[in-house]
Amino acid sequence: MALQLGLKKGMKVLDVGCGIGGPLIEIARFSSALITGLKNNDYQISRGKELIFSAGLSEQCSFLKGDFMNMPIADNTFDAAYAIDATCHAPDAQGVYSEVYRVLKPGQCFALAEWRLTDRFDPNNAKHLTIKAEIELGDGLPDIRTTRQCVQAMKDAEFEVSYSCVINR
Ligand SMILES: C[S@@+](CC[C@H](N)C(=O)[O-])C[C@H]1O[C@@H](n2cnc3c(N)ncnc32)[C@H](O)[C@@H]1O
Repeated sequence: MALQLGLKKGMKVLDVGCGIGGPLIEIARFSSALITGLKNNDYQISRGKELIFSAGLSEQCSFLKGDFMNMPIADNTFDAAYAIDATCHAPDAQGVYSEVYRVLKPGQCFALAEWRLTDRFDPNNAKHLTIKAEIELGDGLPDIRTTRQCVQAMKDAEFEVSYSCVINR
C-alpha cells in the first residue's frame, strides 16, 4: 500500500481510523513519511502513543482524536491517505470518502483495504448470509457494503477510481 501510494520521506500522510497504530508504525518505518493517525477512541490514542514512543517514531508519527465523518483537519492538508479496516465502520461510505477527499491536497491518492462483498455474494444463500452476519458481529460492523457500492461512493465523493488506487481530482 505504501509503495502504491508512492510514500516518501517527509510526505504528510493520514491514516484514517488508525487503531493503536499497528499498520501506522510499519508504514512509517517502511516509508519514512510523516504519519498522522486519526481515530475517535481515547484508549487507542494513549496506547498508540506508547507504541510509537517504544518504536522511536515519536518525531515522525502523531495521533489526532476526531470523527472521520467530520475530520478536525483543514482542507488540502495531506499528500496521501490510507485506511485499513476502518472506513467499513462508517455509517455512510460517501460521507467518509468525501472527508478524505477534502483533506487531501489536489491530485493526491487515497488507498484503502476494508471488508466488502464481492459480486459472488448471494443474498439468497443462507451460508453467505451467515458468514456475512458473523463478520459483522465479530468486527462490530454495520451492514457490509458491496465493492460496487464503495466504488460508486468514491466516485460520488469526486475521486477518480483507478485499479486498486483511487486518485483525488
Ligand atoms: C478495526 S480498527 C482498525 C484499526 C487500524 N486501521 C488497524 O488496521 O489496525 C477500526 C478503527 O476505526 C476507528 N473508527 C471507527 N469509527 C470511527 C470514526 N467515526 N471516526 C474515527 N475513527 C473511527 C476505530 O476507533 C478504530 O481505530
